[in-house]
Amino acid sequence: MPRDEKIGIVGSGFIGRSWAMLFAGVGYQVYMYDNKPKQVTGALEDILQQLKDLETSGLLRGTASAEEQYKYIKGVASLKECVTGAKFIQEAVFEDAEVKKEVFKQIDELVDSKTIISSSTSCIVPSILSADLTHRANFIVSHPVNPPYYVPMVEVVPAPWTSKDVVAQTKAIMIEIGQAPVMFAKEQPGFGANRIQYAILNECKRLVENGVLSAEGVDIMMKDGFAYRYAWMGPLETAALNANGTVRMSSCFIV
Ligand SMILES: NC(=O)c1ccc[n+]([C@@H]2O[C@H](COP(=O)([O-])OP(=O)(O)OC[C@H]3O[C@@H](n4cnc5c(N)ncnc54)[C@H](O)[C@@H]3O)[C@@H](O)[C@H]2O)c1
Repeated sequence: MPRDEKIGIVGSGFIGRSWAMLFAGVGYQVYMYDNKPKQVTGALEDILQQLKDLETSGLLRGTASAEEQYKYIKGVASLKECVTGAKFIQEAVFEDAEVKKEVFKQIDELVDSKTIISSSTSCIVPSILSADLTHRANFIVSHPVNPPYYVPMVEVVPAPWTSKDVVAQTKAIMIEIGQAPVMFAKEQPGFGANRIQYAILNECKRLVENGVLSAEGVDIMMKDGFAYRYAWMGPLETAALNANGTVRMSSCFIV
C-alpha cells in the first residue's frame, strides 16, 4: 500500500539502491538523489531489473508487485527536492568524512527538526559527521551489511547528542522495513560488526602467515565449520550452550 511519507536517499550506488528498494517495499515515497545525474538514471534501471528478478524468484519483499514498488521510487535532480519534508534521510555517498560532512551541512540547511538524518557510513563515528550541525540531535548512523536487501542486520549508532526519540524512531523504522537493528549504547571506532570481522580476519591472516594453516584450510574452517552454527546461533549463545557452557571456556581460550 502506498503511503504519503517521504524518504530521502542521498547517493545512488550499491547501498543507496538497496535502501531505496527496502523503503519502497513497505510503500514509502522514496526520493533518490546523486550528484552525478547519470548515476540516478542507471540506478533506477538497475532497481527495476532487481525488483523484477526478485519477483520472478519469489524473493520480493512487501505485498505490492515489482512494477508497483518501482513507482514509489523517484529520481530527483536536486538535494533540496530529495530531502525537504522527508521523515527519514538515508545518506549513502562515498566513505569520505569530508564528502559526507559537506553533504550533511547542506542537508542540515534544508530540513526541519522533524527529519531524521541517518548515515550508511561503515566506520566514521557519528560525532565526527554531525558535531557542527544545527539538527545534530536528529543525527544517527544506520550501517547496513552489503547488500542490505538480502542481509537484514543494521548497526544503529547514536552520537552522544542524538535524542532518545530519534534512536527509538530509527529502530522502529528499521524493523518496519524488515531489517534487524542492533542498537548501540554509544559510538566507538569500527562500531561492532567491523571490529568482529577484523578480529576474525586478523587471526586468519596470522595463522596463514605463521605457516600454521593454508588459506584454503582457514576458509574450510569457516564455511564448513563455524558457518553451520553461526547461521542460526550467535557466538555467545553457542558458547553458553556448548558442553559445559561458559564455565570451562577459559581452558582453550587464548588471548
Ligand atoms: N559497499 C559496501 O559493502 C557497504 C556496506 C555498508 C555500508 N557502506 C557504506 O555506504 C556508503 C555508500 O557505499 P556504496 O558501496 O554504495 O558506494 P558507491 O560508490 O557504490 O556509491 C556512492 C554514490 O554516492 C554518490 N555521491 C558521491 N558524492 C556525492 C555527493 N556529494 N552527493 C550525492 N551523491 C554523491 C556517487 O556518485 C555514487 O553514486 C559508504 O559510506 C559505505 O562505506 C558500504
